Amino acid sequence: MKDIESVHLVYFSGTGGTALIAESIVNALAKRGIEVSKTELNTADHKDIAADLLIMLYPVYIMTSPKPVDEWIDCSAAVDDLPAAVISVSGGGEIPPNTASRIAVIKKLEHKGYDVYYESMFIMPANVFVSLKDDLAAMILRILPSKTEKAVSDMLSAKRMRAKPFFLDRIFAKLGALEKRSGGSFAKNLKVTDGCTGCSWCKNNCPRNNITIIDGKPVWGGDCVNCFRCIYGCPHKAISVSGFAEKLILKNGFDLQALQERTQYMIELPPVEQVAKGYLFKGIRKYLND
Ligand SMILES: Cc1cc2nc3c(=O)[nH]c(=O)nc-3n(C[C@H](O)[C@H](O)[C@H](O)COP(=O)(O)O)c2cc1C
Ligand code: SF4
Ligand code: SF4
Repeated sequence: MKDIESVHLVYFSGTGGTALIAESIVNALAKRGIEVSKTELNTADHKDIAADLLIMLYPVYIMTSPKPVDEWIDCSAAVDDLPAAVISVSGGGEIPPNTASRIAVIKKLEHKGYDVYYESMFIMPANVFVSLKDDLAAMILRILPSKTEKAVSDMLSAKRMRAKPFFLDRIFAKLGALEKRSGGSFAKNLKVTDGCTGCSWCKNNCPRNNITIIDGKPVWGGDCVNCFRCIYGCPHKAISVSGFAEKLILKNGFDLQALQERTQYMIELPPVEQVAKGYLFKGIRKYLND
């Protein structure tokens, strides 16, 4: 593999966690004198890349990648053995079924002619199921610079770093793809409450342009990628979620910036084992202790 002098980072981020990692990777590469460009999959026009390395970065959505990632790969031109790295971002870490989250993306990239020589996972405070305690979130946020340094050095070393899928991962990956094919309907669970002021924040920030304001209120279309941005980002908390989807949403919302501000001055953090107990936290424990 030739020396990497330029990198193009393609990423999708619903609620800001992956965007924070993207920024950290861009800075670490730029510090090393690498030319970096990036595409955020956010209603952006598709651009083919002209760089020595493609980094594909995205959050884990139940065993798989968000739809915009697949769409970008489907639309991109075939390449001839161009190096690529795939990084997924999860709330729970490298435990099944999260371990299945890169299989389909890697397969698609390889089909286009990419040489995917590197894969890994970052963790961010989860925006789904259960809110993390602030001290654990603080540890995850604080470890980001050193995790980025490690990932960037590994990617630039060009050493082959591919994970061995777990026994059921290929089945999980197929289930994830099936679930995504039936997607788009998540927004059917969303309703606007009386608190809505018609401010249009949701319309202006949806990464799919899936929201229209009609008679001063948002109306959702059929191209939702369940990123939760409109739900958590509404300045008046005026979007309610019904059905099964309600269980996914954090009761107190998710505001990464506020979390960063709240946790940046926390001085005494407890041992990881004390705040991350049980199987569900196994991936986070490993990530923080490695
Ligand atoms: C629809 C949806 C499904 C998710 N599924 C998983 C999952 O299966 N496992 C996991 O660890 N985290 C899961 N997450 C959490 C995200 O991967 C995690 O919070 C990530 O940091 C979000 O990135 P973002 O802030 O860039 O959108 C899910 C989030 C969403 C919105
Ligand atoms: S962001 Fe909230 S308040 Fe503003 S239009 Fe959308 S739902 Fe209404
Ligand atoms: S409608 Fe809401 S949840 Fe769906 S893609 Fe747009 S911002 Fe994300």
